[in-house]
Amino acid sequence: MDVTTVKHLHIVTPTIHSTPLSKLAGFQVFLKLENLQVPGSFKIRGIGNLCQKAAEKGCKKIVCASGGNGGLAAAYAARCLHIPSTIVLPTTTPEFVAEKLRDQEATVVVHGSVWDEANQHALKLTNDPDCVYVHPFDHPDVWEGHETMIVEAQEQLPSPPDVVVASVGGGGLLCGVIQGMQKVGWGHIPVVAMETVGADCLNVSLREDKITTIPAITSIAKCLGALTPCTQVFSLCKKYKVISQLCTDKQAVEACLKYADDHRQLVEPACGASLAAVYSGILNDLQTQGKLGQVRSALIVVCGGSGVTLDALYKWKNEYEL
Ligand SMILES: Cc1ncc(COP(=O)(O)O)c(C=O)c1O
Repeated sequence: MDVTTVKHLHIVTPTIHSTPLSKLAGFQVFLKLENLQVPGSFKIRGIGNLCQKAAEKGCKKIVCASGGNGGLAAAYAARCLHIPSTIVLPTTTPEFVAEKLRDQEATVVVHGSVWDEANQHALKLTNDPDCVYVHPFDHPDVWEGHETMIVEAQEQLPSPPDVVVASVGGGGLLCGVIQGMQKVGWGHIPVVAMETVGADCLNVSLREDKITTIPAITSIAKCLGALTPCTQVFSLCKKYKVISQLCTDKQAVEACLKYADDHRQLVEPACGASLAAVYSGILNDLQTQGKLGQVRSALIVVCGGSGVTLDALYKWKNEYEL
């Protein structure tokens, strides 16, 4: 790809009406299909934006620590921009994801058992001033890039939704979603922030009313596995109407399985967490509790993810007796 001819590295994704999810929910459900991004998830929006800006300033190398999707986006962006990349992965990352990174011409380094440890190592590799460190969720350029999915959705939807649903790892996606919503005049619309039990640093932080580091990631949704949420997401959650909700790994996997049948697409449990808001009746419960007002339509960010295969889904299906 010649970067002098492209405006940005992400594609404009469709926002579709989902008949099966709408039937289940009892209101209209729309899906922003970020799983269709070329590197497999929404991450290319923010990371593509950061890398493109760095390239314009003359950056010579891109370094990123990521359990997969952030790294894939960084490697893809670097390849499009003709810049070498090094991606640091924690040991929990499946080998086939590492292979996908190498396919994008990235150098893969495996270090640490969780993202935070991989990230410490990536920071050490970034001493050279020409080398750009790509934080997968904690950077204004990342949030700015993610904002574009909401700007697009606003143009694609017949009318504004009554609620938006997005998954939370370190909170970069949620920052972009909230900032995008401010931009298009959706600031009054509530956002349901989904995490899985065991990858729930935002939920814990909001309950403790301070930014809190959880001791370990015990969820299978490894891409939601940041130990600490970014400061920006914590302050945006205090400022706007964000409802933090949890689902179990079983509910996230069940949502992935049902979504595969309903829409014929594979997504990671990290994304299943958002789909579980409908498949497990979480939005319905919030509505019954009077926390959402009247919901006529919902927009779910289908954040996607490459860390899933038919075999993995089948294994989880058996493990959770689904
Ligand atoms: C598929 C998927 N969904 C959601 C997230 C969470 O994003 P964030 O860390 O920006 O909150 C990630 C992070 O890697 C991801 O890969």
